[in-house]
Amino acid sequence: MQTIRKISDAIIYVGGDDRRTALFEGVYPIPNGVTYNSYLILDEKTCLMDTVDKSIVEGWLENLEYALGGRALDYVVVHHMEPDHSYSLMRLLEKYPNAQIVTNKKVLDMIVQFFNTDVSARAVVVAEGSSLSLGKHELTFTMAPMVHWPEVMMSYEKTEKVMFTADAFGTFGALGGAIFADEVDFEDDYLDEARRYYANIVGKYGVQVKAVLAKAAKLDIAMLCPLHGPVWRENLGLILDKYTKWASYEPEEKGVCIVYGSIYGHTENMAMALAVKLRERGVKTRVIDSSVSHVSEIVAAAFRYDRLVFASASYNGGAFVKMEDALHDLMAHAFQNRRVAIMQNGSWAPSAANTLKKILEGAKNVELIESVVTAKSALKPEQEPELDALADELAK
Ligand code: FEO
Repeated sequence: MQTIRKISDAIIYVGGDDRRTALFEGVYPIPNGVTYNSYLILDEKTCLMDTVDKSIVEGWLENLEYALGGRALDYVVVHHMEPDHSYSLMRLLEKYPNAQIVTNKKVLDMIVQFFNTDVSARAVVVAEGSSLSLGKHELTFTMAPMVHWPEVMMSYEKTEKVMFTADAFGTFGALGGAIFADEVDFEDDYLDEARRYYANIVGKYGVQVKAVLAKAAKLDIAMLCPLHGPVWRENLGLILDKYTKWASYEPEEKGVCIVYGSIYGHTENMAMALAVKLRERGVKTRVIDSSVSHVSEIVAAAFRYDRLVFASASYNGGAFVKMEDALHDLMAHAFQNRRVAIMQNGSWAPSAANTLKKILEGAKNVELIESVVTAKSALKPEQEPELDALADELAK
């Protein structure tokens, strides 16, 4: 049976939840699932806004057929060619042979790359500022390169003031029948996953996200329709404010996130001893074990807090492997604008601090606290003043 929702009288949600995929993009755990959003506009012309991932294709085709109510499909807009949205494009084109593809030249080239099929004969090619009339509704297209691939575009429907935003403003997490952000407890149940999605999927492309936010600021927007997660029709300021901060690499809140890599628990003890001292000074802390938490959690935390501490065991003449991975991943996501401290442990030749410092070289506007607390196998009671000094420095 169909599982559609009305976004408005003329716009129908035909996408769906995926709770079976374990790793999004083969990398990111999604224990709460994810949605692949697809919207149908019914006017004199019918227009589908994006297709979906292979995991939900059958239910989506059923939704679409039901929502069309026997009408033909005139257009499919492809905003983004990543297969979590475009995998089912060829199935759609076979089922609706008269539908035209509305997209930009870069997408058409990628269709050939992915499907070895040239669809240009049935394409309406758009560029920055192009419009497409559907009757009462009119779409205007704007290019959004690197949010999150180079071919990405967005569209604005002026009658209903709806912005179709591709990956932007998306989140991990299935919706369970809800479709609007105001139907769920977004801040409690989805914000952490929205941050993890942003930081890891588009976190590297802050400059490009800011460019899109600047374009959006000139429009009168009543609804944001992303390709993952809920539609925003109320309190748009909440998600726009988060995006403004994230895209500028500004911390969301004051606090120290301590990430540690510990082999037998002694480095964990260093991390916890520091956390206790910071709490005693009234500083908010978050402690993450790099062996247990997925690296995407560390990247997300780095976008959230203004200070980070990396506490690592030494390993093979370097740092603990999970800590090296975490810092490389942070650097790949344009880590910047933070205060950082390093703690290290080593039983015969502590080598973690130098290795981590080297990885952080070149990070923009990262203030590295000079003193490094070093444990030889385990932190000793006589080192407490060193730890106090570090806690004081971090609490400043
Ligand atoms: Fe949801 Fe970049 O694809």
